[in-house]
Amino acid sequence: MKIGILGATGAVGRQMLECIEERNIEADEIRLFASARSAGKTMKYKGTDLVIQEATPEALQGLDYVLGAVSNAFSRQYAPLIKAAGAVYIDNSSAFRLEDDVPLVVPEINGEDALKHNGIIANPNCSTIITMMAAAPIARISPIKKITATTFQAVSGAGIGGLQELNSQVQAIHDGKEPEIKVFPQQIAFNCIAEIGSYNENGYTAEEMKMQNEGRRILHEPELKVNCTCVRVPVMRSHSIAVTLRTERKVSVEEAKAAVAAFPGVRLIEDYEGRCYPTPLDTTDQDLVWVGRIRDDLTDERGLTLWCCGDQIRKGAASNAVQILKYLAERT
Ligand SMILES: NC(=O)c1ccc[n+]([C@@H]2O[C@H](COP(=O)([O-])OP(=O)(O)OC[C@H]3O[C@@H](n4cnc5c(N)ncnc54)[C@H](OP(=O)(O)O)[C@@H]3O)[C@@H](O)[C@H]2O)c1
Repeated sequence: MKIGILGATGAVGRQMLECIEERNIEADEIRLFASARSAGKTMKYKGTDLVIQEATPEALQGLDYVLGAVSNAFSRQYAPLIKAAGAVYIDNSSAFRLEDDVPLVVPEINGEDALKHNGIIANPNCSTIITMMAAAPIARISPIKKITATTFQAVSGAGIGGLQELNSQVQAIHDGKEPEIKVFPQQIAFNCIAEIGSYNENGYTAEEMKMQNEGRRILHEPELKVNCTCVRVPVMRSHSIAVTLRTERKVSVEEAKAAVAAFPGVRLIEDYEGRCYPTPLDTTDQDLVWVGRIRDDLTDERGLTLWCCGDQIRKGAASNAVQILKYLAERT
């Protein structure tokens, strides 16, 4: 199997290369692509140096899969070249996520959708993946009709530039200087910003609407209603989400806990170092979504409330994409 990584030098692309190595994906060849700025530089894979190249139609020839970790605009630009070269494109941007012939896949939840692809498979939004991993075990007991969610999103969700911005602002404040704002709409150091993505006419941001639009496709619930508020917080890595959901019939707390504990890719937290909830630091640099504080919703007799955390660069992006690749490779 020959695999390409587009955007290999970014936060997600780097993690993809690591995931391929740690999951022992049998790759005969790995080709790394990034912008012209990175061409000629190298990255380590299994102790050898792989040279980064530009993604030209010629350089893409002969690949079986390309994992995409670039912006929407670049994804749209490269997808036709990747398809023309005969490779399956597993994309992390939001460029194709709502297109009917593009499966939107979280392997533990709707892996079989991946088999119906037409050359492109989309990886869902990072907060959506983490939330759906926590919600899916409960949805298997009784369909989820409504979700209210507030996200607490790490700066690395905005890529390497987001990490640099938090670090440089903290340093500037420490040095008594004015923090420079480039990536986020407000100062993120020692702050919270309730604005991720552009505003829609309904007052919600594009990032907030992803949870409903994508959640419907992942859970196969076309009428699912989601009310989401996305907040950027000064955390390096791992998103957290406070989730309240309403099921068709009442699911008890005990039923929900048993389902979450049994679901692949999820870890129920009831007594972890003396507490019943995870933190972003707990879930950084590992693949499980940790779910805690499952309790009844006091405002809705069919509701449940929970707290979940997951590494958005891993399960929210790179690991999920590598899982999709593995799922397909084992079945086609
Ligand atoms: N970060 C997350 O937690 C996360 C989670 C889920 C989904 N995503 C999505 O994943 C994608 C990548 O995000 P990221 O956070 O990894 O971004 P990033 O850290 O900013 O990396 C961007 C990548 O795009 C490459 N690139 C820029 N211009 C290019 C060009 N003209 N041709 C080819 N490659 C080019 C960059 O290469 P150079 O180094 O050469 O500039 C770099 O490898 C985005 O669509 C993002 O929305 C991110």
